[in-house]
Amino acid sequence: MQVLTDKGAMRAWSREQRRAGRRVALVPTMGSLHAGHLSLVDAARQHADVVVVSIYVNPTQFDRADDLDAYPRELDADLARLGDRVDAVFAPRDMYTRGGPAHETWVDVTALTQTLCGAARPGHFRGVTTVVSKLFHVVEPDVAVFGDKDYQQRRVIERMVRDLDLGVEIVAAPLVRDPDGLALSSRNARLSPEARADALAISRALFAARDAAGNGETDATALAAGARAVIEAAGGQVDYVEAVDEATLLATPRLDRPVVLAVAAFFGDVRLIDNIRLS
Ligand code: PAF
Repeated sequence: MQVLTDKGAMRAWSREQRRAGRRVALVPTMGSLHAGHLSLVDAARQHADVVVVSIYVNPTQFDRADDLDAYPRELDADLARLGDRVDAVFAPRDMYTRGGPAHETWVDVTALTQTLCGAARPGHFRGVTTVVSKLFHVVEPDVAVFGDKDYQQRRVIERMVRDLDLGVEIVAAPLVRDPDGLALSSRNARLSPEARADALAISRALFAARDAAGNGETDATALAAGARAVIEAAGGQVDYVEAVDEATLLATPRLDRPVVLAVAAFFGDVRLIDNIRLS
């Protein structure tokens, strides 16, 4: 596995692969890798000949300085976790030019970012789409893999790629859960044992809503309200619990179309997100 920290060296490596006729996959991450990330790598392997994982904690997508500071950084452990699974790791010291004029060019997907995490975390998706487009320009992948735990993020990236003709195939990989139901996230490591136990209410609430929908309930607003009550009863501080159209991400009152029930809630000071398809 090659570890590249320089944008030019990364681009040259990638171009060399493509010149040799190899298809390049990128798995963008912020590190602190877990089994969910490794499943993205496995998905990438199915779509390309060589796999690059990028590891970069992107400051522009954090709306709170304390959240950015607390975000785990463990490059050596991440490299050990990846081992031989990947061909290259791109771990830039910085993605934004230091010194000289400030960064002032941004990529903004306007409508899809108005709801859910976009509403709760102003500027978050502008940071995500900007850094992902920068990563695409540096790595020049044929395909990039995004996990469906960050469902809105995956949709926003797909729209960016379509609207800007970026020519990168986006592969969606399923959300991965611990055996007890908690969605895998780098933030889980910051949960106290008590908060982690309480946070199981999120998946419990989502599974209950999915089962109710499977049994014929079509009132999406009621399902979202029921899920919110379960999470709040366990001590979660809810940012949102919303049933949304899976394409537009707009709230929908009935299960008369493909709908995703999406949650963001704090347990302790850790913000967790999760989602499930209801139809
Ligand atoms: O999902 C993430 O880890 C980040 O939002 C991403 C896509 C790596 C951009 O910084």
